[in-house]
Amino acid sequence: MSRAARDAIAGLYDHRLQRGYIRWKLSADPVYPATAAIIANQPMPLLDIGCGIGLLAQYLHARGIAQRYLGLDHDERKISAGNRAVQRAGLDARMTMHHADVSDLPTFQGHVALLDVLHYLPADRQHALLQASVRHLAPEGCLIIRNVLREPNWRFHATRMEEFFLQASGWIPGGAQHYPSADELRTPLQHAGLEVDIRSLRGNTPYNSYLVVGRRRR
Ligand SMILES: C[S@@+](CC[C@H](N)C(=O)[O-])C[C@H]1O[C@@H](n2cnc3c(N)ncnc32)[C@H](O)[C@@H]1O
Repeated sequence: MSRAARDAIAGLYDHRLQRGYIRWKLSADPVYPATAAIIANQPMPLLDIGCGIGLLAQYLHARGIAQRYLGLDHDERKISAGNRAVQRAGLDARMTMHHADVSDLPTFQGHVALLDVLHYLPADRQHALLQASVRHLAPEGCLIIRNVLREPNWRFHATRMEEFFLQASGWIPGGAQHYPSADELRTPLQHAGLEVDIRSLRGNTPYNSYLVVGRRRR
């Protein structure tokens, strides 16, 4: 994505610090291009669980990917900022964000994204959310998870430090609860009938991030 496109997205948000964060995130983190690449050729609605300020919606629009988008997040400030940005971009006819907890998913069928959300839930709630996410997949839909995985390396410890500061700053009240291992994600998804692919996805960040993609077995 060009610098001008990143600036245009950042300009949709009110706060200077938020705009700086958005520019950095869009230039350093491969999670949005990776998600776009997975869903671009399979147009269907996208449910973005834990959508934050809706950067994925803005990124998809900037790339010309015109799926219907429904985001949800339990942080009202982020939902308001995201919906203001959607309105400013003139996208509110097909993109919207709702204030809700992950345990309260709407009626929906399509692709499902869980980007950097799972570790804010305890292990048992992660398991329940994985099951619910699979139930919201359309037959050809993809479950796209990006998360830090628990591994004995310095990147994992760098992630824990970052999360400490995020919680202290008030950006993510409550903070990280449980970092899943690769098997904690793979096994329940396979039992739910998905083929699962897991690969490293950290781009220019120091974090121990992975992309986990689930598709129904044919
Ligand atoms: C690191 S942010 C990721 C935002 C977005 N997915 C992205 O990648 O741009 C994690 C988000 O998960 C949300 N979240 C955490 N626990 C949640 C819960 N129980 N219900 C809904 N949202 C939750 C937080 O409010 C936060 O916006």
